[in-house]
Amino acid sequence: MPKQWLRARKQDYFYQKAKTERFRSRAAYKLLEALKKYKFISEGNVVVDLGAAPGSWLQVSGEIVGDQGFVLGVDLNPIRSLGVSNIHTIVEDILDPRAIRLIKKLLPSPADAIFSDVSPNTTGVWDVDHARQIELANRSLEIASNLLRPDGSFFVKVFQGDMFKDCFGRVKRCFRRVKILKPQASRRRSAEIFVLGIGFKKKPDNSSLT
Ligand SMILES: C[S@@+](CC[C@H](N)C(=O)[O-])C[C@H]1O[C@@H](n2cnc3c(N)ncnc32)[C@H](O)[C@@H]1O
Repeated sequence: MPKQWLRARKQDYFYQKAKTERFRSRAAYKLLEALKKYKFISEGNVVVDLGAAPGSWLQVSGEIVGDQGFVLGVDLNPIRSLGVSNIHTIVEDILDPRAIRLIKKLLPSPADAIFSDVSPNTTGVWDVDHARQIELANRSLEIASNLLRPDGSFFVKVFQGDMFKDCFGRVKRCFRRVKILKPQASRRRSAEIFVLGIGFKKKPDNSSLT
């Protein structure tokens, strides 16, 4: 990694805060800010976290849902155990057609919330990175629409760009309320924003979600 990048990271407020508060990633504060404002999970909930490694969103959700809740983290990479019984993890590609069936089998009930912080490996070619990220966000919505209980919530990272509008429209069709958030921990120069859907309405026509 370039020295300049490492130096900037060390000076980063949320990076330092995450180290002090023992979160695995500064990303924890993006979810925490959204949860503080909209409180879309609570004790006893079932939560699925797509693209969950290294696990800071799992730490946040596990704490909120507590012993009676259930959190499942899904990632291409293995997630080091968090040592708590309410957090479970699997290694899986969310783009794999079998992923929905596999995740469903592991849940004790339909999910109260689906989170997705999934990011592709970036190539540096903006159009390619944008398209890949939107594909992952759309796939996350497809997974959410299969696993959420009625009235459940969906919190997803999306890269801004010309494909954003279409992706946002898909989320809007599935939820009663939709919000766009740019948490403080999200770097200003980053194209990422978060879309929150509250009040899952109906199972959309999957054919429009590819
Ligand atoms: C920004 S990180 C997530 C950070 C996480 N929210 C946290 O708080 O620790 C994005 C993750 O998406 C995962 N990812 C990318 N493509 C994926 C795919 N097709 N299926 C599952 N996970 C994927 C990456 O492996 C990476 O761990």
